[in-house]
Amino acid sequence: MSLDNGLYAPDQSGRELLKVAMPKGRIYKVASKLFREAGVPIPTDFDDTRKLIIELPEVGMSFIMAKPVDVPTYVEYGVADIGIVGKDVLMEENKDVYELLDLGIAKCRMSVIGMPDWKPAINPRVATKYPSVASQYFRELGQQVEVIKLNGSIELAPLIGLADRIVDMVETGQTLRENGLVEMETIFGITSRLIANRVSYRMKNEEIQSLCDKLQHAIAAKASV
Ligand code: PRP
Repeated sequence: MSLDNGLYAPDQSGRELLKVAMPKGRIYKVASKLFREAGVPIPTDFDDTRKLIIELPEVGMSFIMAKPVDVPTYVEYGVADIGIVGKDVLMEENKDVYELLDLGIAKCRMSVIGMPDWKPAINPRVATKYPSVASQYFRELGQQVEVIKLNGSIELAPLIGLADRIVDMVETGQTLRENGLVEMETIFGITSRLIANRVSYRMKNEEIQSLCDKLQHAIAAKASV
């Protein structure tokens, strides 16, 4: 592919830049901080940028600022060689990518949530941003539920009678507390992962492996503090 936007352009040594899909929003700040700790100097003034493609030829990388849910798609199609994505999105999207590294950042969990006085409903309905995760979870429990896909403010669903439970991410628990909801089950723990396109992993193995090593050192250094 040849596009005149620098993303596919070679660096000064003639090598194509490593294309990294970064999630915009809450994960970006912790992910870019981890990159800096790993010796990849992403300037802090990119934290609030509206720019969608950021090139750092001096470190041999281009960053694609993506909506988190789209990161696995960009990586699967190879328009990004690698990407950073939450385990929640990876589980839901189920794309054909390599999961290389648990970055240990943006820790939270996927949970079943309901009102404190929840009782089994005759026609149980579960609202969620993660219909595939929720369907699989209840299927494995042998429970029949109707899964309703929402795109945000999932906690509204039990409050206004759309669903009797929700499946959603819990980080601090503040949203639950402020809305009088309780966590009923934890489905799995979530952290951000480094993923790679299968072809890029072979073709750019040296660059990808070198970045993995640096990130692993930074993660280990944080863990030892
Ligand atoms: C997420 C999630 C919960 C909330 C959990 O929503 O869906 O609503 O964060 O965080 P907490 O445990 O720290 O309160 P997000 O902020 O992404 O917005 P959304 O409701 O639009 O999905």
